[in-house]
Amino acid sequence: MSEGPATASGPTAPAIEGIKLSRAFGGVQALAGASFSARRGEVHALVGENGAGKSTLIKILGGRLRADAGEVRLAGGTVELDSPDAAHRHGVWTVFQELTLLPWMTVAENLLIRREPRGAFRLIDRARMAKEADAVLAGLGIHNIDPRGLVEDLSLAQQQIVEIVRVIVQDPDILLLDEPTSSLGENEVEWLFGLIRDLSSRNKCIIFTSHRWKEITDVADRITIFRNGGELGTFTEIDENRAVTLMTGQQVDALYPERPALEAARPLLEARALNGPGVSGVSLTLRRGEILGVGGLAGHGHRELFFSLFGAAPTTGGEILVNESKVRISNPHDAIGLGIALVPEDRKTEGLILPMSVGTNLTLAILPQLSALGVIRGGHEGRAALNMVGKLKIRTPGLRNPVHQLSGGNQQKVLLARWLLADSHIVLLYDVTRGVDVATKHEIYELMTSLAREGRAVLFYSSDAEELAHLSHRVLVMREGRIAAELAAPGITAEDIVSAAVREATSIVG
Ligand SMILES: Nc1ncnc2c1ncn2[C@@H]1O[C@H](COP(=O)(O)OP(=O)(O)OP(=O)(O)O)[C@@H](O)[C@H]1O
Ligand SMILES: [Mg+2]
Repeated sequence: MSEGPATASGPTAPAIEGIKLSRAFGGVQALAGASFSARRGEVHALVGENGAGKSTLIKILGGRLRADAGEVRLAGGTVELDSPDAAHRHGVWTVFQELTLLPWMTVAENLLIRREPRGAFRLIDRARMAKEADAVLAGLGIHNIDPRGLVEDLSLAQQQIVEIVRVIVQDPDILLLDEPTSSLGENEVEWLFGLIRDLSSRNKCIIFTSHRWKEITDVADRITIFRNGGELGTFTEIDENRAVTLMTGQQVDALYPERPALEAARPLLEARALNGPGVSGVSLTLRRGEILGVGGLAGHGHRELFFSLFGAAPTTGGEILVNESKVRISNPHDAIGLGIALVPEDRKTEGLILPMSVGTNLTLAILPQLSALGVIRGGHEGRAALNMVGKLKIRTPGLRNPVHQLSGGNQQKVLLARWLLADSHIVLLYDVTRGVDVATKHEIYELMTSLAREGRAVLFYSSDAEELAHLSHRVLVMREGRIAAELAAPGITAEDIVSAAVREATSIVG
């Protein structure tokens, strides 16, 4: 069922509307006459492929970006939202796709910025501030975030939660959330959806984007589909296949490719009783041609495990074997030398060098190989990179454009492509499909299975249990730094993974 934009004004008018909005960046038309409208009391999802223009729309509605043409209306009246402050004055608050917290300040300072409690001589009363922040967090059901701690010491999920809380405390009338769940685990997503349902029951308007269909159908009242900078329609009911077909313009039959056959191959990577901060006595064996999944709730040691296997986090005991010989991995350089690649979760802080070009970011991992003869062979580098841009359908005007100009999902693809270019036998993928659209997910799954088919070994953590269940030969479920369960295909279900993960577990929210 499709509905046209409403034109009423007054109390029955839509809470927020974008009318024929356009915005270009250089030669890229991010929005091309897109219209959108959302009501009070509704949860409205914006969906579309990476680069479809969702964030651009949200930035315009949130006052962060100006449109080249078109207008924004609130309750039927045209408004000029020329800054986030202007939007705030109208009760419009946004959680942007990128984190905006000040990393060197405390959680409390970030939460209460510009509203700090002041004591004598108008000095900021720090003790009271921490107390207030404590009350705010507890009131929203958040534990395990210390308001006195620095933001830079928080996990990505915790930072995202602070980012959300900072906006919630402003009591927004219209709340825009751009991929709020992309760094949250299952529990935190439930927590956020609780908040969203509460806001909508209080007649607020909530607009959000997500690349996970299940989340969208769980919480959205209506869905607007975007493609190529324009809206294709707003729906109250639409099934996933139809939505995917609209988003991509092509039919996607099977999202998950078949698992490659697994022979009784030799182990490529082994960990024996590995210990370190966050990791307790983890043993695992990863064989040639195997896709070994790792699941569990955020904050239960997956990240530490992956980073220590890559030499990017310390270990205090245990051993690592590559090709059945004991190895020393004290830094990523050692790991890369042993043929290990890591694609990390946080493309902003760990993966990409944002001001550098797409081409350079793509070839960073293979630069040592490319320059083996003491010269960087620009031609070869360019060809290899261009090849990958085609293979992963990375949407970029060219290799020379800075990577920060790409949409979120396309940045993720650059990161993945980098490690596929480097000839690594052991590929550690840490939540690589976060923020990636369905069509690209499908391409990444195909790539993973083809890596395995080529005889490489894939260790793969995902916060999406469906994905783990469908792609892995085996799944290890981590809880409190240990392997709590091992599930083997066929017959792994997402429910098995989640239930093994939550048994007696603690989390940030609850
Ligand atoms: N600051 C910028 N400079 C240059 N190009 C930009 C800029 N911001 C966005 N774009 C381009 O505009 C298009 C739309 O981007 P946008 O971020 O709105 O997509 P999106 O739908 O949010 O995608 P994703 O799902 O990946 O977050 C993309 O092609 C993107 O590369
Ligand atoms: Mg976006």
